[in-house]
Amino acid sequence: MTQTVAAQTVTERAGKPFEEVQPFNIDKFLAASKPLDLSGINLDDAGKHPLSLSEVKVLRYMQDTEFYTVHYMKALMETSALADNECRAFLVCWGYEECFHGRALARILESCGHEASKRSLDEFTRPRKLTEVLQDAGGRLLSMISSDFIAVHNTWGAINELTAVHAYTRLAELSANPVLAAVCRRIVKDERRHFAFYYQQAKRRLTNRLAQRMAAGAIKALWEPVGGSMAPREERDFVGAYLFDDADGHARLREIDATIGKLPAMGWFNMVSSDVIAGTERIRRAGVHVDRPVPCGA
Ligand SMILES: [Fe+2]
Ligand SMILES: [Fe+2]
Repeated sequence: MTQTVAAQTVTERAGKPFEEVQPFNIDKFLAASKPLDLSGINLDDAGKHPLSLSEVKVLRYMQDTEFYTVHYMKALMETSALADNECRAFLVCWGYEECFHGRALARILESCGHEASKRSLDEFTRPRKLTEVLQDAGGRLLSMISSDFIAVHNTWGAINELTAVHAYTRLAELSANPVLAAVCRRIVKDERRHFAFYYQQAKRRLTNRLAQRMAAGAIKALWEPVGGSMAPREERDFVGAYLFDDADGHARLREIDATIGKLPAMGWFNMVSSDVIAGTERIRRAGVHVDRPVPCGA
């Protein structure tokens, strides 16, 4: 498959371009917020189908990132985001919904006879890492200096939620386990709602030079894929290689960068592609085997 065809496929599957997402309605979001919709899905049925060992590693990482949202939510609640009515309301529902994503992934792992990850649980009992403490303190300081800090937070959030949309879509496409695939597609619906909030907020707030400079500076200096501060780099690299190391995956990475690049003054953004591709190279050089199951219906 050529890259052009792959890119078309991604666009076709994605439907409406993300930048055309309708203006976000916070009241509608709050009213629709609920635990992950698992209607018609029996998580115990996941055990009737195997998971590849690579898939188990990816699922554990993603389970951890979902539970780890609480840390991000707590850090953001200590900034000026707390005083912003829309941001505060969103953050509460966001943390709630992400928690159910993590629980569903943990249940699937257990149904398939694998231990769910305990890392995120252990992390809550440990002191925060120095880099995380510094990042959180930097966020608080920036937010005290300028109300434009929220633009940084929203741009950052848009990158991570859009990556989550594509990551879960790929996980569903690549899996031979129909229950996992169905759950991932349900999670994608929530991740799209989260993305819509962050993207529209970022679009609205990246309107002055200071906000634009703060967002570009912070993201260039500090951004890493979600879960990066929690897990060793090899694990993050592995997840990127598993999900995106083919023509369709590369097209998705470009689409993420291009969508973020349409935000005001973010045209330079290419960090998702460059980070994942560099990580995949490291996985190759280390000789780590990445196996994918034969997808359902393939
Ligand atoms: Fe999630
Ligand atoms: Fe999300």
